[in-house]
Amino acid sequence: MNDNSLTLVKQDYSKIRVIFISILALWTILIGVMLLWEINIDKKNTRSIIMAQAKSFYKQIVITRLWSSVHGGVYVPVTEITQPNPYLDVPKRDVTTTDGTKLTLINPAYMTRQIAEIAFEKGDIRFHITSLNPIRPANKAEEWERKALSAFKGKMDEFSEWDKEKPADKQYFRYMAPLIVETPCLKCHAKQGYKEGDIRGGISVSVPAGDLLAVQKNTILNSILGYLIIWFFGSLGIATAFYFVRNDIRSRNKLNAELYETKGSLETSMKEKDKFFSVIAHDLKSPFTGVLGLSQIITDDIENFNPSEIKNIVEKLHTSIGRLFKLLENLLEWSRLQRGLIKLELVKIPVKKLVEENTALFASKAELKNIRIFSNVPDDLEIVADKQILSLVLRNLISNSVKFTPNGGEITITVSDENKQTRVSVKDNGIGIPPEIISVIFKVGEKISRLGTEGEESTGLGLIICKEFIEKHGGTFSVISETGKGAEFTFLIPK
Ligand code: HEC
Repeated sequence: MNDNSLTLVKQDYSKIRVIFISILALWTILIGVMLLWEINIDKKNTRSIIMAQAKSFYKQIVITRLWSSVHGGVYVPVTEITQPNPYLDVPKRDVTTTDGTKLTLINPAYMTRQIAEIAFEKGDIRFHITSLNPIRPANKAEEWERKALSAFKGKMDEFSEWDKEKPADKQYFRYMAPLIVETPCLKCHAKQGYKEGDIRGGISVSVPAGDLLAVQKNTILNSILGYLIIWFFGSLGIATAFYFVRNDIRSRNKLNAELYETKGSLETSMKEKDKFFSVIAHDLKSPFTGVLGLSQIITDDIENFNPSEIKNIVEKLHTSIGRLFKLLENLLEWSRLQRGLIKLELVKIPVKKLVEENTALFASKAELKNIRIFSNVPDDLEIVADKQILSLVLRNLISNSVKFTPNGGEITITVSDENKQTRVSVKDNGIGIPPEIISVIFKVGEKISRLGTEGEESTGLGLIICKEFIEKHGGTFSVISETGKGAEFTFLIPK
């Protein structure tokens, strides 16, 4: 399977990651906006509370003043603190009662100033009666009061702001509203040219906001904490969802890749089998041609042959049939392997004995070609395997070596104990295997049957079967060879 086809079945989850990061970002923004909204509401609440407080002070003063105005001012005894108002220019400002007590007329502004003094002493609340155009210079507007008074001219009916100059716990809230000239005021203010409805000035109220701001700070901190918790759990949920989706995609990708791989290997093995059948059919055909031809000769002309000629023909017939039989045997073996019908019967096998027994079977064949077979096997080495199958593999390898080793050659069988496996190798110094055959030697369907050095037949199936048998044992099977220098077949079987 190449990389291209892999990406075909792999669902990309970097896109999902982008989606999840966007969701997380949106979630964070949403929470952020909601928190800001909440903080804004908290601040508005604080402001409306303190505003109501300031307003009610203001109203109370205005009402008291109006009461005073309605009476045209109020007479009070003259004391050290309450001296006659030098700015009050009305007849009968100062009077003396029949018993000699001195009284002076208190105009509303004077009263306001005195109340302001008491309010400040008692409750830290400050009033200031003021005007852009004061009769009494000390009533002059401060900077922000001027700002407010100018705003009233522009038809604003109240003005408020935080006095931000002080630290949070000493902060003040400032409120100001205009003082409108009403009929009772004209008694004293008409002479300055004021008419009813004019703005005479205003009263500013400063309310200490430290406590309220501390409460607000707490509320805001609580809001932040609450939203942080909501954000955290929401994000956790999102992350978990992402985790599951990603895992899901991962396992789906894995499954897809496996399916794809299975499909690929199925396709190759189908192709291999198709090819294999055509090769087998071809292999079967040539011995049959021989058998048919030879039997034809005998049927047609048996009376013209002498017994030794007949023997010769029948011998050839026998060889052909033998080859057919061998091929069929291999074929059956292979098909049983393929269908999983072969069950391994694992036993402990003394390897030295097994090698000797199987080598003995080839003694005469080897002798004919003057081939010497050496075995190099430790005495008490045991191997756990299926005895029949292991013998079959050994026979196949030895027979192979005998076939492809010329007269006078050598074959060495070596068994050794490796880490966790047993290594068996059959090595010869024969004609070797050309690279183009090596590359396809274990492929079903490749026609590789070659003749041995003396024209010995081979089916080309034997090695494939050996490899599969070894693999069925959980082992590995390999070959190295150099043309003209021989070949070495090696297999490893786990202990
Ligand atoms: C009895 C006379 C009298 C009456 C009634 C009166 N005022 Fe005054 N007002 C004065 C005098 C005198 C001052 C000057 C300074 C002071 O006493 O602080 C003054 C000052 C003020 C000031 C402060 C600014 C400044 O010029 O120094 C305002 C504002 C004001 N009056 C508004 C009003 C309004 C509004 C009414 C009606 C509800 C009213 N007054 C009724 C006598 C009066």
